[in-house]
Formats: sequence, C-alpha cells, structure tokens
Amino acid sequence: MTKPLRKAVLPVAGLGTRFLPATKAMAKEMLPVVDKPLIQYAVEEARAAGIQQFCLITGRGKTAIVEHFDIAYELEATLRMRHKEAELRMLREAQLPPGAMVTVRQQEPMGLGHAIWCARAFVGDDPFAILLPDDLVLSETPCTQQLAEAYYQTGGCVVAVTEVPRDQTNRYGILDIGADDGRLVEVKGLVEKPKPEDAPSNLSIIGRYVLRPEVMQYLGMLERGAGGEVQLTDAMAKLIGQVPFHGLRYEGRRFDCGDKIGFLEAQIAFALKRPEMAAQVHAFLKNYV
Ligand code: UTP
Repeated sequence: MTKPLRKAVLPVAGLGTRFLPATKAMAKEMLPVVDKPLIQYAVEEARAAGIQQFCLITGRGKTAIVEHFDIAYELEATLRMRHKEAELRMLREAQLPPGAMVTVRQQEPMGLGHAIWCARAFVGDDPFAILLPDDLVLSETPCTQQLAEAYYQTGGCVVAVTEVPRDQTNRYGILDIGADDGRLVEVKGLVEKPKPEDAPSNLSIIGRYVLRPEVMQYLGMLERGAGGEVQLTDAMAKLIGQVPFHGLRYEGRRFDCGDKIGFLEAQIAFALKRPEMAAQVHAFLKNYV
C-alpha cells in the first residue's frame, strides 16, 4: 500500500554565499519575494499538498526562521489595538498548528545529502517531500502537489525536473532517462554536476522531491561526492532499480532565488501576479526599460 505523504523536510542550513553581504547576519530563506519570505512560500506550497509535519534543517544564524513560524504575542496585541485586522489575519494564516514543525541542527554544512540525513529520526518509515526554499515555483497547481499526485500514481520516488541549457549541466543533478511519456520520465541514473560532455541528458532536478525513506540508509554512509559534499543525488541514485523512480516535468516556472538574477526575476514575476500592484509594476517596467 502506498503510504500517505504527510511529512516535509526543508533544509535551510546552507551559507548562502552567493547572496553576501545580505546573508551575513540574515538567513537567505528570510529574503522576501514581494512581501513574503522564501521559507513561507515553501511551507504554504507543502501544506497545499496535504503535508502536515515539517522538519527544518537549520544552522547557525537561522533563528529568525524559527521565530517566523512562532506566535508573536506582542505584535498581535499591538495590531489588535490599532484595529489592523487584515494584518492580523495575514499572520494567523501563516501559523502552523502546535507541534507541526520541528527543527534539527546540521552542525556543519557538509552538503544537501548530509542535511537531509539529519532528518532521519523525523522521517522514520514514512515517505517525505523535500523543498529547497530558494527554488520558487510559480504554477497553477503547486509543484509539491503535482509531485504528490505522481507519487500516489507510481508509489515510488519522484523528483521535479526541467530542461537546462547543455552548457549548464555542471550546476545541477542530471537524469539518465528511460521511458518518457512527455510528462513522467523513468529515471535510469542520476549524476551530480556532470560536465556537459559527460551529461546523460539535459534534464535537471530542481529543489522539489518526494522520496521514500529507504534513501536514508544510503545517506547514512556519508560518502562524499561532487565538491567534497555528501550529495543527495548520489544516495538517490542507489535507490534506482529498488523502487520506482521518476522525474516529473512539472507545470510551472522555477526561479532560482539563491541566485541574484533568479531572485530579481522572481520579484517581477510574483509582483505581476498580484492584482493590487500588477498594473503599476507593468507600467514601471515598460517606461523604465
Ligand atoms: P545551495 O547549493 O544553494 O547552497 O544549497 P547555499 O549554501 O544555500 O548557497 P550558496 O551556494 O553558498 O549561495 C541548496 C539547499 O541546500 C541547503 C541550503 O540551505 C539550500 O536550501 N543546504 C546546503 C543545507 O541545508 N546544508 C548544506 O550543507 C548545504
């Protein structure tokens, strides 16, 4: 029987060096797109897919993220006194039920695979989603929901994939593909950051996954891969052949908000989706550019 997908792991322990100096004293995941921090987009997307339990993998300097999901009594009292009902509602909507979020500290940033392994007690024997908050997906159906549907359909691991330019394969986890119906792709192999000449395809994994818990036993070997880091891609590759493993060409557009250009593009795209500001932003862009 396919177990229901109720858990998500959100790794936020990276150093965010591409965003220095902004990330010197502030977590990258708290950077706002329009008016909402990246981490909140990720949590909302997961909740829309039926996820109820969250594990944040944190590191030094990330306490603001934990604060963000706590109740802010004094702020709420002040807002109430000033009759700021809309703002109060906004805070409440972002609130998680008590006990829905736990945090685990990754003491050293040894790579994404190591960060995920830190959640092994939380994951237990259950399937789980992974959302990298710096990847933001603008779509009709939330990306994690699309993955969850594919997980229920296949019963195995599903990763969100997109085509990248051939000369950029050395930045991503790349698929070696089998059967392909144009949407769901059978994964025959996975390689982390291959050189363009060695890349088996140009289909790349983005920061959305639904994995079976068996991946933890391979992560636990703590083998170092590309860049000397414990790579999630390497552990996932070991699952191929044991459980169904697919890539999903999700509907939507991904913005890499860990990168300056991607972050700026996301600001514009998300602002243009907001009815109260779209016209003004559009007019500004037209005149300014
Ligand atoms: P990135 O590759 O974006 O690394 O990590 P980073 O450190 O956050 O940013 P740069 O490259 O220095 O600018 C992808 C995801 O994996 C998490 C990050 O928080 C991010 O969500 N991560 C990475 C960890 O949690 N731990 C690690 O050891 C490495």
